[in-house]
Amino acid sequence: MKFSLFSTFTLTLALSALPLAMAQNRTATNNLGTNPNQRFQLNQNQALQIITAAAAKSAEIKIPINVAVTDPAGLLLAFLRTDNAYLGSIDIAIKKARTVSLFNGAITTGAWYNLTQPGQSLYAIQETNGGLIVFGGGVPCYVDGYFVGSVGVSGGTTDEDVQIATAGVDAVGSTEGQV
Ligand SMILES: *[C@@H]1O[C@H](CO)[C@@H](O)[C@H](O)[C@H]1NC(C)=O
Ligand SMILES: *[C@@H]1O[C@H](CO)[C@@H](O)[C@H](O)[C@H]1NC(C)=O
Repeated sequence: MKFSLFSTFTLTLALSALPLAMAQNRTATNNLGTNPNQRFQLNQNQALQIITAAAAKSAEIKIPINVAVTDPAGLLLAFLRTDNAYLGSIDIAIKKARTVSLFNGAITTGAWYNLTQPGQSLYAIQETNGGLIVFGGGVPCYVDGYFVGSVGVSGGTTDEDVQIATAGVDAVGSTEGQV
């Protein structure tokens, strides 16, 4: 009984300390430092700016889309499905952004296409990591030259998706940067 009370207390203490540890400095967003182990990522305002700019381009060219913004690890930061966008494209948009992040923003999803055709050197890489998307619509986002996240768009042709994803990135940074 004594032991079990102690365990419960320890667990409660550990859990209540966790949010504090995780909230180390939530005001620090994209202050680019010099420590190579620091991970910089889009903050929520930047993610929303990307979504808003992509939605504006989608409305302009009249292509309903799903747009996903992921962090540099490929985890979702923001998502929008515009009216009438394909439901099947939800997953594709998220996986496009994730595909770019899983390779450190070094390659767009469109640039994978030729490399992953039957007989080409990286054929079947799309079967790894739970499914990569290897056609256009996923682009990296760099701010001040640093890779900070990825944008995936799905709903139009690959050219339209790329155009919309790029418009999103352009709102906060660039699709080009140091890898
Ligand atoms: C958190 O980060 C902000 C912005 O970089 C900085 O001004 C502030 O001093 C930091 N706070 C702590 C407690 O480190
Ligand atoms: C992919 O291959 C096609 C046909 O060979 C070529 O026209 C195109 O430029 C290639 N795309 C890239 C990104 O290398």
